[in-house]
Amino acid sequence: MMMGAWRCRAWLLLLLLIFCHLFDPSMSQLDSRWVAKKRQMREKVRKMFYHAYENYMAHAFPHDELKPLTRSFTDSLSELGNLKLEHLPTDYNGSALTLIESLSSLAVMGNRTEFERAVIWLSENLSFDVDARVNLFECNIRVLGGLVSAHILATDYTSKLVQGSYKNQLLVLAEDLGRRFLPAFDTPTGLPYAWINLKYGVMENETTETSTSGCGSLILEMGVLSRLTGDPRYESAALRALRKLWSMRSSLNLLGTTLDVTTGEWIERSSGIGAGVDSFYEYLFKAHILFGKEDLWRMFHSAYLAVQKYFRHGPWYHEADMKTGKATYWQLTSLQAFWPGLQASANSSHREFVHVWKKFGVLPERYLLDHQMVHPTEKYYPLRPELAESTFYLYQATKDPWYIEVGESIVNSLNLYTKVEGGFASIRDVTNMEKEDHQHSFFLAETCKYLYLLFDDSFLVDRNYIFTTEGHPLPVLSAWHERLPETFIPSNWTCVENEKSTKPASAMSQQVCPALSLNLGDSGQKVESACHIPDAHSDHRCFTDEDCGVDSMSCRRRSCSMAGYCGLWLLI
Ligand SMILES: *[C@@H]1O[C@H](CO)[C@@H](O)[C@H](O)[C@H]1NC(C)=O
Ligand SMILES: *[C@@H]1O[C@H](CO)[C@@H](O)[C@H](O)[C@H]1NC(C)=O
Ligand SMILES: *[C@@H]1O[C@H](CO)[C@@H](O)[C@H](O)[C@H]1NC(C)=O
Ligand SMILES: *[C@@H]1O[C@H](CO)[C@@H](O)[C@H](O)[C@H]1NC(C)=O
Ligand SMILES: *[C@@H]1O[C@H](CO)[C@@H](O)[C@H](O)[C@H]1NC(C)=O
Ligand SMILES: *[C@@H]1O[C@H](CO)[C@@H](O)[C@H](O)[C@H]1NC(C)=O
Repeated sequence: MMMGAWRCRAWLLLLLLIFCHLFDPSMSQLDSRWVAKKRQMREKVRKMFYHAYENYMAHAFPHDELKPLTRSFTDSLSELGNLKLEHLPTDYNGSALTLIESLSSLAVMGNRTEFERAVIWLSENLSFDVDARVNLFECNIRVLGGLVSAHILATDYTSKLVQGSYKNQLLVLAEDLGRRFLPAFDTPTGLPYAWINLKYGVMENETTETSTSGCGSLILEMGVLSRLTGDPRYESAALRALRKLWSMRSSLNLLGTTLDVTTGEWIERSSGIGAGVDSFYEYLFKAHILFGKEDLWRMFHSAYLAVQKYFRHGPWYHEADMKTGKATYWQLTSLQAFWPGLQASANSSHREFVHVWKKFGVLPERYLLDHQMVHPTEKYYPLRPELAESTFYLYQATKDPWYIEVGESIVNSLNLYTKVEGGFASIRDVTNMEKEDHQHSFFLAETCKYLYLLFDDSFLVDRNYIFTTEGHPLPVLSAWHERLPETFIPSNWTCVENEKSTKPASAMSQQVCPALSLNLGDSGQKVESACHIPDAHSDHRCFTDEDCGVDSMSCRRRSCSMAGYCGLWLLI
């Protein structure tokens, strides 16, 4: 129940955007065909966003989310993260969730009037003093993250998003919400309860089971709330939980998926990089960039190496037992599609995801790698953003026009399969494209935003941003840094200079690849990271492993992936 119920979010690497001004304003060198194509695609995405947004405003606002088929609403904030409703809210009429989630997208698309209108409405009408049991993780990434990000965008004098009338209303709301989170952390371990009632705090008989993501993905939003308000309680609570979680890792530096917050013991010891865990890794890394905390970098680095060692199989990642490192489940979950973006040079993994996307038209929630088939019960595609997200980051890193084409095919399938008159509907079953009456708020916060940024990244020109796991941008400010993480900027760093350059440049590889020489674990085995797979060699098409021959650099046999590409996959 827990695994399916945790909708945990994906994460990606923004490193390149942060330390390089990738956007080259001199358009003269650009192929004009690509410029026209990108402009046309950007307008297509803009239309998608407004189709989703305006239908929400017309038929669901101020409730949480739109039901696009029946043009009605669902007060889903209280249901997020749970399949069964155990504590039905008695007096909860929604928190305008989709509007809050849309704020930063409105800013990215430059819609000041609508942004301002939303801020005014929220400041006058939104209250968190409601008898609703919410999932801490979901409420944090969607509501708190949406509010702090929009607050920063609203106070940015260059954006002029709110014409002189902004009086920190969004921050006042965020702080009120943050205070309501704090009782969740009042446990013997400091690990927070997964559920909290916004009005009454932790319920009697509340479940003590939570997930790794649930404990480990709070630091960005709560840390920023502390920096903005000067009240250190939010950041300390989130950091304490993160450190406690890390202390529970196995000797292989692996974590499980679910745990008990009162005893600090693992419940589900198998884990991977998908549901229940993904954003833990993501937040270690991003929090290091945002706050310059060195210990978070060390935690991330060890965790990353363990992932590469125990979960990776060729371009795919499976799940493994945290104690033994033995493979447990051979499945692709759609949430994993974020991982290629992290590595920036992981074209090979991304390509496999694109292959599965193209096979079905969208990405099924769970795909069985060993049988090459969709999971019998998890056949849905709830408009998730992860592949669009990876595509955006990989395009930023490489400027390879191939990613623009991938983005175009994502946009086209979304319009073909999920667009209805009343908005965008999730897919219940990718094998027959049956629709479901739900337009998730992350479609507006993430899917549309990443696709828009893929085709037009002018929002990123003036400032460097980290995107939260819900796609809300947070600026990287030196004032928030304990110490600038200059370790990220190798002295021979080269930025991708224009659209034509396809040079893969990844600070990640600079950091992780030297670890090749590290001794890992008891076995003393060396780990190869993704960036050492020469992509040039893996563009070769194949039917069998024999078609691929031997890699000239390492003398190792290359093998043929599911999508029909040769590669030097790591087999342990
Ligand atoms: C929710 O809506 C119902 C029906 O419109 C109303 O009776 C109730 O007072 C509302 N509750 C709140 C908290 O606004
Ligand atoms: C801003 O959003 C509103 C509401 O959807 C829309 O009517 C308006 O055209 C948008 N403005 C711009 C400049 O896109
Ligand atoms: C929102 O607040 C404004 C100003 O207080 C009020 O006029 C309006 O009726 C409120 N809207 C709702 C839906 O409660
Ligand atoms: C808590 O659980 C116990 C044992 O199942 C039950 O007797 C009690 O009524 C529950 N209390 C509440 C408030 O649900
Ligand atoms: C990524 O893979 C695609 C498909 O094989 C290829 O066309 C593209 O050139 C590759 N990009 C990079 C940066 O290797
Ligand atoms: C950058 O420096 C590292 C370590 O100093 C070195 O291993 C690497 O080859 C250099 N890369 C380039 C492109 O010169």
